[in-house]
Amino acid sequence: MNLVILGAPGSGKGTQAARIAEREKIRHISTGDLLREAVAKGTAVGKQVAGIMAAGQLVPDDVVLELIREKLADAEERAKTNGWILDGYPRTARQAEALEEVLKTTGETIDAVIYIDLDPDVVVNRLSKRRTCVACKAVYHLVSNRPAIQGKCDACGGEIVLREDDKPETIMKRLEVYKKETLPVLSLYEKHHKVHRVDGSKPIEEVTSEIAGLIGV
Ligand code: AP5
Repeated sequence: MNLVILGAPGSGKGTQAARIAEREKIRHISTGDLLREAVAKGTAVGKQVAGIMAAGQLVPDDVVLELIREKLADAEERAKTNGWILDGYPRTARQAEALEEVLKTTGETIDAVIYIDLDPDVVVNRLSKRRTCVACKAVYHLVSNRPAIQGKCDACGGEIVLREDDKPETIMKRLEVYKKETLPVLSLYEKHHKVHRVDGSKPIEEVTSEIAGLIGV
């Protein structure tokens, strides 16, 4: 099963993508995670995008497209699982078109698109209270999804920190970029794919159950 999950920053895409991937034994491919990994490792791509990400802007289409192309074409990873869920990609109309081209080469199609709907006011609260594990990337929230031990990841014991781009002024910038660049992708997908809308304000488990019901798993 091949899925795309769309939604504003902080709407819960990463949280839900991880849960659906685990449940369905499919790959969770997050361009945000791939880019943050490149920044942390100090690769050439990482050096190119660090400032752009910290400012809440989108990195150039060609850079993310290359990451996605590599991941989707990776024969070893393809053999291990039966599909993927794309989280954070596509984010522009050009990325959506490029994805269709890549899928022609891999012989795959998108089975369903999930859109998590959430009020922008809730987004700001979620992101400013989000904490992320530096080691395994697990995501927490200081109120709704707290780790058992303060500051430590439940899954791996790693340190959990505020993401560089989760500062209030950067959150507002990311929302602005989302409205301008990424919302049009939703309209595009509504013309060509079945888009399942879910209410992202419900508790995490309920959102997962709703998604699972909608995509029939
Ligand atoms: P990326 O990492 O993709 O960030 P984003 O899209 O802004 O999304 P977030 O990760 O902030 O939020 P989310 O929707 O995953 O929410 P989460 O589940 O964590 O991208 C970061 C940057 O990388 C971009 O700004 C850009 O610079 C660059 N980039 C990435 N992809 C790119 C691309 N394709 N093109 C160009 N540039 C790209 O949840 C948020 C919080 O809420 C957490 O604390 C969580 O615990 C909590 N929460 C989740 N669900 C619920 C719920 N139902 N109830 C209560 N709390 C909840």
